[in-house]
Amino acid sequence: MRTAVVTGAAQGVGFATAALLGRKGYQVLMTDLQPLDGPLARLQAEGLKVAAICGDVTSEAFAHDLAARVAADYGAADVLVNNAGISLISPAEETSLAQWQKVMAINLQGPFLLSQALGKQMLARKSGNIVNVASVAGLGGVIHRSAYNASKHGLIGLTRTLAAEWGGRGVRVNAVCPGWIKTEMDVADQGSGAYGDEDIINRVPMARFARPEDVAAGIAFLAQEDSFVNGVSLPVDGGWTADNSWDALRINTRGG
Ligand SMILES: NC(=O)c1ccc[n+]([C@@H]2O[C@H](COP(=O)([O-])OP(=O)(O)OC[C@H]3O[C@@H](n4cnc5c(N)ncnc54)[C@H](O)[C@@H]3O)[C@@H](O)[C@H]2O)c1
Repeated sequence: MRTAVVTGAAQGVGFATAALLGRKGYQVLMTDLQPLDGPLARLQAEGLKVAAICGDVTSEAFAHDLAARVAADYGAADVLVNNAGISLISPAEETSLAQWQKVMAINLQGPFLLSQALGKQMLARKSGNIVNVASVAGLGGVIHRSAYNASKHGLIGLTRTLAAEWGGRGVRVNAVCPGWIKTEMDVADQGSGAYGDEDIINRVPMARFARPEDVAAGIAFLAQEDSFVNGVSLPVDGGWTADNSWDALRINTRGG
């Protein structure tokens, strides 16, 4: 049975990914800072093979604990999904060092530490792959998101470098770049009054938000066995990054 570790699995994209990989027959180890009893029970009730371990992805000690648990229970993970992340909407000139460091620690240091800890086991077995959850914010600038965007650009850089460094040793590393997704992150971001549903819907050629399940499907595609896909950053954005049209042109072209 193939094994997948999914971070940030208590809700949103991480939960949808744990559910999808579980339904595809993976043994899934869910991990999150938040308690996982509820999400775990929901997936167990479906008959899926899931387990859970709580911890903070920014902690090197947790990365070691997680690797020890994976080694003891499964030998090595076949798939690591670095999904845990936080958002920050703040003008660059007002972003504090503490805010910057927190975003970098969770969104970039965490994936590095876990890729290193679980990647070593994959390298020893000469098989496995990692999927990092970046963002369209890793492919271009978005106003008032200097720390978040820099962290996601960094995550894409890390993806490419690990793909180059480990590809020849049996370990592939890829990323997904979702557009705006309807999750609790979006609810919190919209709560700040920074944007509304219409702003996103108008910007996306497919005229809707991403669903957590859309992103999970992209992750599952990249994670599949016997693939030659390595080092890519796959937009799962309904065409957002492909489209340089101005808003009125896009909206008028949709018709009624
Ligand atoms: N929501 C969006 O519009 C959007 C768009 C593009 C990319 N993303 C990315 O997708 C990923 C998932 O986002 P989501 O929308 O599901 O967010 P979410 O806030 O719903 O879920 C994130 C999860 O990560 C966990 N987490 C946060 N800090 C952690 C830490 N230090 N250690 C362990 N777990 C931690 C949270 O507890 C939470 O369960 C993130 O990396 C996010 O940047 C989100």
